[in-house]
Amino acid sequence: MKDVDAIIELSSQLCINEHNFYDNTVDISFPINNKEKFKRNMRNGFGLVIVAIDFDNIEGYLIGSISKTEDYRNIDKIAEIDSMFVKPKFRSQGVGIMFVNQFIEWAKAQAKRVKVVVSAKNNRGIKFYRKAGFIDHEIVLEMKL
Ligand SMILES: CC(C)(COP(=O)(O)OP(=O)(O)OC[C@H]1O[C@@H](n2cnc3c(N)ncnc32)[C@H](O)[C@@H]1OP(=O)(O)O)[C@@H](O)C(=O)NCCC(=O)NCCS
Repeated sequence: MKDVDAIIELSSQLCINEHNFYDNTVDISFPINNKEKFKRNMRNGFGLVIVAIDFDNIEGYLIGSISKTEDYRNIDKIAEIDSMFVKPKFRSQGVGIMFVNQFIEWAKAQAKRVKVVVSAKNNRGIKFYRKAGFIDHEIVLEMKL
């Protein structure tokens, strides 16, 4: 389970990044606090985890799964990229797009659509997914009370 620790560490970096730059409601302790649940999910084969390894170190990961759609839609399942992070030093070398393409290949057997939720302020992330073929589908609006 050494790999789980490395993925949790990257996931924490993702949350800190999200919290500091894009969405301060992101709980930076979420990965650490949900480590046991994550391990259980992995054992139960809940989805797909892909990692990029360089000299035995995990330098990036994608976690994706298949989930049920809202009742009002005429499709019952959708593939979803739950979280993805590549360490800054390893970015812009095609790792991210390789993750997405591998996830799509895996998901095709189980779903007809794939989605990803990105913070509205994460312009680079949005640009990345658009370049990968995703199109804007729905806009979620929120207001601070
Ligand atoms: C988004 C991310 C996974 C892409 O990984 P990657 O290995 O750099 O992806 P690729 O090399 O296949 O594609 C690179 C493109 O991603 C985009 N990109 C998005 N965020 C970026 C970032 N923070 N730094 C560099 N490139 C980024 C750029 O358009 C870049 O194109 P360029 O190389 O022409 O500048 C990675 O940048 C990352 O971990 N970002 C921070 C976390 C995040 O935003 N995750 C997505 C939301 S869950």
